Amino acid sequence: MARLATADAAGKPHVVPVCFALARSSIFIAIDEKPKKVRASDLKRVRNILENPEVALTADRYAEDWSLLAFVMVRGRAELLGPETDEHSGAVRLLRGKYHQYEAMRIEDNPVIAIRPERAVSWGALDKPGSHDAGVLDTIHGRRSVRRYLSKKVPKEIVEQVLEAARWAPSPHGRQPWRFAVLRREETRERLADAMGEEWRVNLEMDGQSQEIVQRRLEGSRRRLMEAPVLVLLCLYLEDLDDYPDAERRRGEITMAVQSLGAAAQNALLAAYDLGLDAGWMCAPLFCPGKVVEALGLDPKLVPHALLTLGYAEGDPPRRRARRSLDELIIYRD
Ligand SMILES: Cc1cc2nc3c(=O)[nH]c(=O)nc-3n(C[C@H](O)[C@H](O)[C@H](O)COP(=O)(O)O)c2cc1C
Repeated sequence: MARLATADAAGKPHVVPVCFALARSSIFIAIDEKPKKVRASDLKRVRNILENPEVALTADRYAEDWSLLAFVMVRGRAELLGPETDEHSGAVRLLRGKYHQYEAMRIEDNPVIAIRPERAVSWGALDKPGSHDAGVLDTIHGRRSVRRYLSKKVPKEIVEQVLEAARWAPSPHGRQPWRFAVLRREETRERLADAMGEEWRVNLEMDGQSQEIVQRRLEGSRRRLMEAPVLVLLCLYLEDLDDYPDAERRRGEITMAVQSLGAAAQNALLAAYDLGLDAGWMCAPLFCPGKVVEALGLDPKLVPHALLTLGYAEGDPPRRRARRSLDELIIYRD
């Protein structure tokens, strides 16, 4: 949340809290349906912008730990984007990507405020991780898979906080049959990308894909591995599980381990989101575990299963993917 300051022609100030989305050269603010006494065009902020486009916006973080305090202030000129413009639809998409609550609101019918920043000042611990400070359900609803990252580094302590959440996932007999390989250096990620790319090429060619498509998909996957500042390879480690004389129970034990790896992954994804990071999931290692172990020089007892990409999304995160309705998923047998 930020605060938007506008002033009328006489310079009388007005400040309101706002939700916002960031594009490369603009900041967008929706005029939404939250209960308001007046029409969009009569809102004081809208009238002020029409009279005087000079605005300021601050976004800040307050924390009990004052070493985490921080704010940014942007000054610039504001415009109202009409619903008929391309920029308006792009802004609506960005806002819905960031705030899932907007998906159920008709913000596309109202103008969007676009701030064109001219100057920005900041203060405080902007590089320290913040917390969304949201309840767990908000975190679950807000998280989404991110596939493009800024080149901004992720501090080691934050990666460890994410893996701390993974550590607390439920697991069969509480044995935690997983290990997490953290890959940060470019050379390491390159080795992994080469090893997995080789295997994927063979598979795609076996599927009869054209050379052009094979090339494009391989390049896309490599880009993701190289752009994400941190990769976490989730591996199964089955040595501590119970052993059984029969194949069926042995299989069940492994399935439970895989199920718990999924729980650890989800804990990590939610923690990452809560810590202000973005994350994605790649299944590629599952299809060439031996190659991955070899490329990274891992203990051969580890079975690579999934790769989490961690970093800061380039732009606001993409829109949430739709889900099946609960009616379709729940089977009542009361
Ligand atoms: C087991 C598993 C494997 C996945 N593999 C990939 C993958 O290889 N590449 C990818 O882009 N996304 C992958 N995903 C992410 C899903 O595509 C994504 O979670 C889904 O589309 C829902 O979108 P959301 O995470 O943004 O809600 C995987 C997810 C899971 C659970």
